[in-house]
Amino acid sequence: MKIEVTKKRIEEIEADIEIVFIVDKNFDHKSVKDREALEFLGFKAESEEVCFLSEKRVIYVGVASLDSEEIRLASSKAINAIKNTNAKSVKIGTYTDDCPGVNLKAMSEAFILGSYKFEKYKTKKNPLKIKNVTICLDDYSNPNPPISMAQKAIKIGTIIANSTNFAKDMINTTPYDMTPLELAQTAQELESIEDVTCKVYDEKFLEEQNMGAFLAVNRASHIPPRLIHVVYKPKNAQKRFVYVGKGLTYDTGGLSLKPGNSMVSMKSDMGGAAAVLGIIKGAAEIALPYEVHAIVGATENAIGPDAYKPDDVLVAKNGTTIEIGNTDAEGRLVLADCLCYAVEQKPDYLIDLATLTGACVVALGEYTTAVMGHSSELKNSLMNSADSSGELTGTLPFNRYLKKQLKSPIADLNNIASSRYGGAITAGMFLDNFVADEFKEKWLHIDIAGPSFVDKAWGYNQQGASGAGVRMNLYWMIEQSKKEAV
Ligand code: BES
Ligand code: ZN
Ligand code: ZN
Repeated sequence: MKIEVTKKRIEEIEADIEIVFIVDKNFDHKSVKDREALEFLGFKAESEEVCFLSEKRVIYVGVASLDSEEIRLASSKAINAIKNTNAKSVKIGTYTDDCPGVNLKAMSEAFILGSYKFEKYKTKKNPLKIKNVTICLDDYSNPNPPISMAQKAIKIGTIIANSTNFAKDMINTTPYDMTPLELAQTAQELESIEDVTCKVYDEKFLEEQNMGAFLAVNRASHIPPRLIHVVYKPKNAQKRFVYVGKGLTYDTGGLSLKPGNSMVSMKSDMGGAAAVLGIIKGAAEIALPYEVHAIVGATENAIGPDAYKPDDVLVAKNGTTIEIGNTDAEGRLVLADCLCYAVEQKPDYLIDLATLTGACVVALGEYTTAVMGHSSELKNSLMNSADSSGELTGTLPFNRYLKKQLKSPIADLNNIASSRYGGAITAGMFLDNFVADEFKEKWLHIDIAGPSFVDKAWGYNQQGASGAGVRMNLYWMIEQSKKEAV
């Protein structure tokens, strides 16, 4: 899908379908030409409400305000309603307040996110027919924004959404196809982007690095583990962002086996890995002035004669010994070793993304990502950007008492807490043991267990993977690069 802008008036554009937003129920606006028909159909122009007048080839969508998230929701609802028609081209005006770039970016993101389809396993494919979207700078309320600024906003919005969809594709792919080896292959292909390199390490490297926790999780799988390290390094990079992603290509729970219903959708347990690969793809395509690393610990958590067991004691890369209380708390074991490795890259920011705990979904609900860490400033800064990106976040606070629940009588730590309450936080505090002191204030732990995989479509997310974590982090880096440029 190609999104373009034009200075022409909307009436002058040839397109199969026109999209019109009704802002704050204002049916009197000049763009609303079918008031009678809409009234007859009982359309109230509530936020997210859609009315497709197919004979007239106009689709109306309600938006409560010109807030960028309203624009995103309306744009995605509109494209979603027409994505199975034979329309090849669509036109729409510009809906902005004082900062047109923000909403043009939001609109382009939503067109691409909303029209996403995953048809890899369908015998009869029905690919999207819409090839062109024309946005007329003929503004809803204000004088026309400059065309170069509009084009830049659309370009960035397109990259952000495509990076998110790239993550969705990996997550939606079956565990039989998206193995650690395939994930590594997908990462390797990012080398086609300028300034991106990728190294893939096998089990021998993990042994040399004493990654005993990561290796134990892999033991029952017939597929070897991979540590994937992608680097985007532009010239004169100003800072180093190191991302770490949980890449469990399948989580059966191991010997502490998951019940049947909870196992379904565990192909998405590499959602953190997919997100960090999406982030680095986006950062490189936008050509951000930062060095960005994406480190992925990729393995299955399977069962078999050689499976690691509850009661085992593992030794992580930094020498910490871990008693196993539950083999289903495997993500933190893989991340423990990957975080030790990540710290060696001397990050300015260290961020891990993981579908880490069911407890996080209980705490915040299925739409919200948890942000944890020691620095309130860092947490707030990411959460503000998440807000602008349309991703929902909430913070879960660490405390000294929950940390004590991870004690083990025979090892340095247990991999599960002694109480079941606060499980998302204790998982985060477990990871804290693998972030060396001088990096603690630079570290964020992001639990995407809730929004990463969508059971029932919401907002601009279809059923299946959402690509959670990609947009908030790209917005965050863009935001910082703007501050530094001033
Ligand atoms: N991958 C799961 C967490 C998860 C649950 C992600 C639901 C997405 C949706 C993780 O490995 C896990 O199983 N965690 C356990 C930890 C427990 C044993 C302490 C959990 O949350 O139950
Ligand atoms: Zn698990
Ligand atoms: Zn898991």
